[in-house]
Amino acid sequence: MEILYIYIIKKILFLFDPEKVHDSFIKFGRYIGEMQILRFFFGLLFCNDDNDIIRQEIKNITFLSPIGLAAGFDKNADLINIIPCLGFGHGEFGSVTRHAYEGNPYPRLKRFPEIKSIWVNYGLKNIGVDKIIKRFEKVKSKRFIYGVSIAKTNSPDTCDENNAIEDYIYSYSLANENPNIQYITINISCPNAFGGEPFTTPERLEKLLSALEKIEKKKLVFIKMPITITNSEFEKLLDVINRYHIDGVIIGNLQKDKSFLQNITSDETIISKGGLSGKPTFERSNELISLTYRKYRDKLIIIGCGGVFSAEDAYEKIKCGASLIQMITGMIYNGPTTIAKIHHNLKKLIQKDGYTSITEAIGTYHR
Ligand SMILES: Cc1cc2nc3c(=O)[nH]c(=O)nc-3n(C[C@H](O)[C@H](O)[C@H](O)COP(=O)(O)O)c2cc1C
Repeated sequence: MEILYIYIIKKILFLFDPEKVHDSFIKFGRYIGEMQILRFFFGLLFCNDDNDIIRQEIKNITFLSPIGLAAGFDKNADLINIIPCLGFGHGEFGSVTRHAYEGNPYPRLKRFPEIKSIWVNYGLKNIGVDKIIKRFEKVKSKRFIYGVSIAKTNSPDTCDENNAIEDYIYSYSLANENPNIQYITINISCPNAFGGEPFTTPERLEKLLSALEKIEKKKLVFIKMPITITNSEFEKLLDVINRYHIDGVIIGNLQKDKSFLQNITSDETIISKGGLSGKPTFERSNELISLTYRKYRDKLIIIGCGGVFSAEDAYEKIKCGASLIQMITGMIYNGPTTIAKIHHNLKKLIQKDGYTSITEAIGTYHR
């Protein structure tokens, strides 16, 4: 299947506009997800069951696999019933915002196979939180962990700090009440929105978190961190996060440093806007996972995200301190069998190091 995908299917898909390919997949996936027989068939094809070594209990929630789908692949929760059949243990849907947004002007997606990356400038395109959260009423899987990423509506109105906080509160409250959602991620680091990233300064993050803290917390809560900031800026954000009832951090979002595109493109839109996924995020994400783990150990659950294409990549993040992993680009480049392959090889890597469970391997670089 993997060879078929990499050498034939991907070559054909990569001839077409990435957004059109993605939209067609969403339609196809949504259709499959509605049919029990097809879900069963996909489960047989992509899921391997013997996952004891990589299963984890985190804050009373069982994650059958550490590998999850990152936010942005399924913005409108169209695929809530088919993503679990690909073998992921959890999935983050969205980012969703209070009001719908049709997305930034084109172009907003471009593949860069030379650096195993995708340039993303969607700008929080989604159909709005009311419609999206309603879709979770139709969840079929009882073992899969569902997360929702919330962000502020991409519009000039939310450039005002108080409006922006109100906007987050609205989406947070809806997700917080839905029984089929197990965790909420507060996305403070979308690089493609009106007014930039207003909550990536400690003072403003403090205001946002203190406002959200007033709502009775019913879910695990994570913060999606920026990675294109200095260590000291990052640490200041962690200091704020540590003062609130936040369960963990996702490290992290897209890479805004475009030096990775040197000698590849000089397109002004691409250089000045959006962010890069995939390999350009890998090293920086690992550095920041290590920094966070060294300082907070098990006080913050770390979800490592960025540039995971293989079990070796996932294991590197785990040894840096991540308990869970998220990915998108690796699956787009290597196909849907990637998750089963990562499971298979991750189990081998853990055993080779003499551990009986993934939990023993977390943060081993820092012991
Ligand atoms: C097409 C695309 C859309 C994305 N949209 C979002 C988003 O809406 N919210 C978010 O928090 N991250 C978004 N991201 C960032 C990913 O969640 C992830 O942080 C980043 O791509 C690094 O992981 P990867 O290298 O495995 O793709 C998006 C990424 C891609 C490729």
